[in-house]
Amino acid sequence: MVSRQDFPEDFVWGASTASYQIEGAHASDGRAPSIWDAFSATPGKVKNGDTGNVACDHYHRYREDVALMRAAGFSAYRFSVSWSRVLPEGKGKPNEAGLDFYDRLTDELLQNGIEPWLCLYHWDLPLALHEAGLGWTSREILPLFADYAGLLARRLGDRVPRWATFNEPNMFTMLGYGAGVHAPGIRDRGAWLDAVHHVNLSHGAAVRRLRADLPAGALIGSVPNLQPALPATDTDADREAAARMDAAMNRATADPVFLGKYDPITRDWMGDRIRAGDEDAIHAPLDWLGLNHYSPTYAAAASNRWGFRNMDPPEGAETTLMGWHVKPEAFRDTLIEAARRYGVPVYVTENGMADDVEPGTDGAVRDAARIAYLDRYLGAVRDARAAGADIRGYLVWSMLDNFEWAMGYGPRFGIVHVDYASLKRTPKASYHWLAALARASSTA
Ligand code: FCB
Repeated sequence: MVSRQDFPEDFVWGASTASYQIEGAHASDGRAPSIWDAFSATPGKVKNGDTGNVACDHYHRYREDVALMRAAGFSAYRFSVSWSRVLPEGKGKPNEAGLDFYDRLTDELLQNGIEPWLCLYHWDLPLALHEAGLGWTSREILPLFADYAGLLARRLGDRVPRWATFNEPNMFTMLGYGAGVHAPGIRDRGAWLDAVHHVNLSHGAAVRRLRADLPAGALIGSVPNLQPALPATDTDADREAAARMDAAMNRATADPVFLGKYDPITRDWMGDRIRAGDEDAIHAPLDWLGLNHYSPTYAAAASNRWGFRNMDPPEGAETTLMGWHVKPEAFRDTLIEAARRYGVPVYVTENGMADDVEPGTDGAVRDAARIAYLDRYLGAVRDARAAGADIRGYLVWSMLDNFEWAMGYGPRFGIVHVDYASLKRTPKASYHWLAALARASSTA
């Protein structure tokens, strides 16, 4: 078991969430739809026809949720802003009532001694932009994303110390534009490459705007999901496929953003999408990297449009409800490699596992498998730190059970159970376990 002594006194403990996954209140106080509202309303796209219309109703229950964070001893909370709540059209006139919500949330966090970490984009693009052809496949989105960043910086910059541009730019571009299994449901290799490049450029534009509009000392970063791409078999063909998967899934966004250079495989795919000066426009010095990680992935050679195929974990591998391989050594190696390669302080901003454990007859939620997972993955953080990697915090995914995108409400990732009928919150055994670690560090 890991113990508090395995981590330094100033190690940050906390949790992450995302707007569309928890807020609900989808049509309240002037919020307009995002691509996820449209996608989940389309039959067959999300399991059981689930939507984020109500989700955890965090929009109305945020005080209760912040109280749970405080009681856990958390010192940081990463949330994302719903772009179409604060700018219903994605641009133009802001919605004051929407901005007020993030004001209230920020103040509530600060009053409870929790640092607000704000992520600008966790996948819920305003539908109006998408429908006007101004989504991620269009280069015209760059100034719009920068304006959105500036709006929030001016509104919340006096109280929010840490900012991230994108959550998992690598994942939402592939799932939403390449594979078509997430919003907006486009399945096209060219659209995927367009989206990747415009997201990268939008990141650069937003960082410059944030630097201009935030007080000096604000900490700006980005949050990639980094997962080793491993060859399914020990052959040259699969090793080459794994290199292509690594380029597509890890390097295509993280390298230009943190290093200012596309890797050779991605550059080749991008062709003349990369105009003169683009890499400089993407690259702006960053203060931190938020690292999301769940499991390694496996690639095999394929003569499809990607040059690789996603494979299941090896026979007999330990997996979670999502089918993801539990392999803490892969996490340790990823942390060491990311800290070395990207050269900025790293905070784990997502890690955790899904189950479907419900409360027992006594009301308690005994999620022993999650405790075992967190223990082993925190052990990997400890080991990466011991190997010299600058890892400064751990924010679990997630604070609450929530809307797990195309999987709907089936997989439960929370350390707090949510009964979706009554919206009752019940801290799970894993919440108490993590709180024991986090609290031991607070001087409270
Ligand atoms: C990550 C997403 C997050 C959540 C977890 C399980 O890829 O960032 O929203 O869905 O996976």
